[in-house]
Amino acid sequence: MSVMQEDTQQEKPQFSASAMKQVDEIFSRYPDDRRASALMPVLHLAQSEFGGWLSRSALDYVAEVVGVAPIRCYEVATFYTMYNLKPVGKYHVQVCTNISCWLCDSDNVVKTLEDKVQVKMGSTTQDNRFTLSEVECLGACINAPMMQVNDDYFENLTADRVSEIIDRLP
Ligand code: FES
Repeated sequence: MSVMQEDTQQEKPQFSASAMKQVDEIFSRYPDDRRASALMPVLHLAQSEFGGWLSRSALDYVAEVVGVAPIRCYEVATFYTMYNLKPVGKYHVQVCTNISCWLCDSDNVVKTLEDKVQVKMGSTTQDNRFTLSEVECLGACINAPMMQVNDDYFENLTADRVSEIIDRLP
């Protein structure tokens, strides 16, 4: 089964005029014959434009905009955990369980989160408020254990701190 999903709710994805300006700005960072290098930032922009995740149609659209074969887009989007290939909740909580975080008890972070929001890693709460994901190293090993909530990093976590962070989300 494909890891990519179709968005049954949405029309064919298309960047807004202001997003298209941002795409042009992204392209300006690279030589014309190296436009494929813009793939990752354009995917990131598409994810925020298209509701926090990338459907198969969104990936095809990004490939068309960047001028690469769709398979190049699928390869990148399926490799990096920062691209969501299915819908996520209002708060996407990504917990690093790689070696440094694991040694600093990321298991406890995972357990605390699962108990707190009452859903298992890899799932979304019924009210669509939280999606919990387990991810590889997010590059903040020096302050392990850590988690990312949407675009923000939270480091040096303890069970109490995790609980407090979740309680404070609006
Ligand atoms: Fe967790 Fe690097 S191992 S941030």
